[in-house]
Parts: sequence; C-alpha cells; structure tokens
Amino acid sequence: EYSGNLEKRGRFPREILGDIRKRMGTDFIIELRINGADLVEGGTTNEQTAGFCSTLDGLVDIIHISSGFKSKGHDTEEFSSMYHPHGVNVERAANIKKKTRIPVTAVGGINSPEFAERIIAEGKVDFVSLARQLIADPEFANKAKSGREDEIRRCTRCYHCYPGMPEILGDDRARVVPDMKSLPATTQRGLGVGTCSINPVSGNEVEIESMPEPRGSRSVLVVGGGPAGLQATITAFDRKHKVTLVEKGGSLGGILNFTDTDVHKIDLKNFKDLLVREVKRRNIKVMLNTEATPEFLAKLRPDAVILAIGASPCLPVITGAGTAMHALDVYRDDSRVGKKVVMVGGGLAGCETALHLADKGHEVTIVEMQNRLAPEAYGLALTATIRQIEKASNIVVKTGMKCIEISDKGVKVENSSGKEEVIKGDTIVYSLGMNARRSETERLRAAAGKATVFEAGDCVRGANVYEAVTEGLMAAMKVI
Ligand SMILES: Cc1cc2nc3c(=O)[nH]c(=O)nc-3n(C[C@H](O)[C@H](O)[C@H](O)COP(=O)(O)O)c2cc1C
Ligand code: SF4
Repeated sequence: EYSGNLEKRGRFPREILGDIRKRMGTDFIIELRINGADLVEGGTTNEQTAGFCSTLDGLVDIIHISSGFKSKGHDTEEFSSMYHPHGVNVERAANIKKKTRIPVTAVGGINSPEFAERIIAEGKVDFVSLARQLIADPEFANKAKSGREDEIRRCTRCYHCYPGMPEILGDDRARVVPDMKSLPATTQRGLGVGTCSINPVSGNEVEIESMPEPRGSRSVLVVGGGPAGLQATITAFDRKHKVTLVEKGGSLGGILNFTDTDVHKIDLKNFKDLLVREVKRRNIKVMLNTEATPEFLAKLRPDAVILAIGASPCLPVITGAGTAMHALDVYRDDSRVGKKVVMVGGGLAGCETALHLADKGHEVTIVEMQNRLAPEAYGLALTATIRQIEKASNIVVKTGMKCIEISDKGVKVENSSGKEEVIKGDTIVYSLGMNARRSETERLRAAAGKATVFEAGDCVRGANVYEAVTEGLMAAMKVI
C-alpha cells in the first residue's frame, strides 16, 4: 500500500499533507520543502521528485527545492561551497516546475538579485529562496528593490555561519573542540552558528544593541585599509565620528586584494570591493601611500586610534628559503612561477593557493608536515577543499613530510622515519601562517598619546575574515 512504485511511496506524505490541509483550511499557506534530488546512491532522483510533485495539486501552495543530506552537506549540495556554481538547485527545480502548476522555488547558493531575476525571467522558478544570503545581508530584498544592488553584502559561501559536521571525512579529521577559555573573545563569539564572516552584526545583535551611543563626535584615526580597518572606518563614520583612514600601500583592500586573481574567490572579492565602495561613498578622508608614524600621530592628535595594520607572512627557517615565493606573491604576479610548483605548507591557505595554481595549469605538489591537509579546518570547509584537491589531476599531496632544505632542484623533505627525498620543482611557494605586526602595533600604541587605542584583525594575531571584520566593527563601536 505504501511502498513499491512512486505512486505508492507518495501515498504516506500525501495523506499527511491532506490531513494538514483539512485541519488548517485553504487560507493557510503550506510550503513543502523537498530534495530536488538526494544525490546519494539509491536515493530519490530529480525525475522521481518531479513525478511526486505532480500529484500534490490542492495539497500544498509552494514547492521549495533543496537537495542533499545534513550529514553529507557539501557532497550532496545541501550547502554549496565557493567551488559550486550559484543556484545549485535551479535546474532541478525547473524540471519539477514543468510537471506542476504549484509555484516552485529553489534555495542554494543564490546571492545576487541579477541571478535571481534571471532564473525567474527564464521561467525556471516562480521565486527564489535565500538562506545564508539573508544572514550575510538581511536587507538583500530591500536593497534590490530600491536599486541599491551594489550595497548588498553577497554571501561568500565560506561556511562560517554553519560549519557542518566535523566527522564527514572520517574520525581522524574530527575537529578537536578547543578549550573555549583559551580562545580570544572574537573567536569564541564566532563559534556560534549564524555568526557571519562578512556581516559582523549577525549573531551579535544583542551585544551590539546594548552598546552605548557615542557622547559626541570624535576624531578617529584608522590605520590600515584591510578588512578590519575598512569595517572600522565605515562603522565609526556611521556613528557620526570624523574619520581619517590611512593606508601604507597604494590601494585599499589589504590582504584581500589577492582575490582579484583567484577565480574561486569571486564572492570574497565582491565583499572586498563592497567595503572599498562603502568607504568611498562616505565623506571619509582616505590617505593612501601614507605611513602612520609616531610623528604623524603626534601631529594629528586624534581622540581614538584603531590599529588594523595586519600581519606579515611567516618565513620558513630552513636553508635556501630566500629563493622561495610567498603564496600572496603568486597572486600578485605569477610570471615568475614555473610549470612545476612545490607548495610548502598544506594549511587552508596553502591548499587554496595550490588550487589556484593548478587551475592555471601548473603541476603542484603540496607538502604538509602534519598527517592531513588543512589541519586547522573541519566540517564543510574542509570537505569542500579536499574534494576540490581530489578532483585536480595536477595536484599531488604529500603529508607527514617535513621540509628540511630548499634548493634550485626543489625541496628536500623528511618523513617521520627520517627517510629523505627531493621533490622536484621549478618554483617553491610557501604558506606557513602569518605573524601579527606586534612590535609596530605596540610602537604606534605608545605614540598615540592621550588617544584611546583599539586593535583589530591580523595585527592582534593571524585572523580570519570573521575576526577581522567583527573586531573592526567592535573597535569602532567602542569609540564613545
Ligand atoms: C545557520 C543555518 C541553519 C540552517 N538550519 C536548517 C534547518 O534547520 N533545516 C533545514 O532544512 N535547513 C537548514 N539550513 C539549510 C538552508 O535552509 C539551506 O538549504 C542551505 O543553507 C542552502 O541554501 P543557501 O545556499 O541559500 O544558504 C540551515 C542553514 C543555515 C546557514
Ligand atoms: S558566514 Fe559565510 S557562508 Fe555564512 S552567510 Fe556569511 S558569508 Fe555566507
């Protein structure tokens, strides 16, 4: 009665829906959220879901197409990553829409009004559903409606708000739950589901609302035009302070400028560009190519200084390291990068650089000292990176290998039993973490005189985008 062919398998959910309809009446909207396809072996296919949906007339008012499973969130496209196309469920929804008169919507990686308009205009869906995008920017619809598309913070699908199941790739990759008390305050705050890398208000609403309003308009100097400094500048200005932003380099964006050349980081580039645009459209004094020296601070005499001067790459302390390139330099200018590359350091940044180089046709060997790639990552972010590396035929992974020497032939490595080998490469690239610019930060702090000083982002300790942006906002909120 309830199993076997599609008609019989659909009977149970239809009876439930029928009963809900009977009890709730016809003026109550019933939305059925259902996998457009399970995307696991033996699971329901898109065609089967379409067949089932064709039997729901009168029972539901909206069919909402998602996909996959929570326990396989990345692999079954329940949570798409930056490596997936936008709108992962749109074609599946379009096939279902052909079989029913009930309005159909799709969720999954939709982060721009342009894309939403297009798939509606093409008749693939009747309207769109947004999950993470509304965490990244709850004003998405209002901004789109009022022609302010370029003010939308577009979700980067970074998984910070929903890190996912740690055990997906096996027990050895399970996340080690850190001792919360040992973590910096921003990191602790950022472990909450719903906190967002690019929207520092999300998940922190109560704390932010309880912070006191400024008692007057202060002169605020922000030092550093990376994500922390840019967010601090925007927030300080919006709180009616007189803000000056100084940046040592010739452009704003800081470390995020590497996204200009990485095809997978288009959404993070969007965010970086948005921060720069938001600063430019405000009446903020921006001084590029300007170093905030102690003399500069003494002359300006601001009421508050927000230091966001970033971090410098950690250098490998082995023979021959001087001939190697840092990962960020690869993004700035890849003309010096040869065909065969050895990537020293298989953390998340090293893996992403390797993927970037592999996309550009280089043959890359990643060497990581620990027994797994991206040891600092877990859950969906880890799966997304590992799957992408598995797909790349021109990336070789060597874990459990310590680099002991760099020469013009390549990198000499040693495994845990002390066995040595040379991994050949034309170019050696390294990514071994970042060192906060502490001494420079302390020097500027000492030179700030009576000004209240705050620090944000990478100059506190190597920070991720969430930490940088949240600390930028919080520093500006504390200027009262
Ligand atoms: C913080 C968070 C919580 C979620 N909770 C649920 C849930 O309880 N049930 C569910 O079916 N999907 C849940 N989802 C998944 C979303 O509904 C959506 O299918 C998924 O995020 C993909 O859409 P997106 O790319 O627009 O984010 C959650 C997503 C996020 C980010
Ligand atoms: S944390 Fe990342 S994935 Fe989540 S909403 Fe923000 S940008 Fe999107």
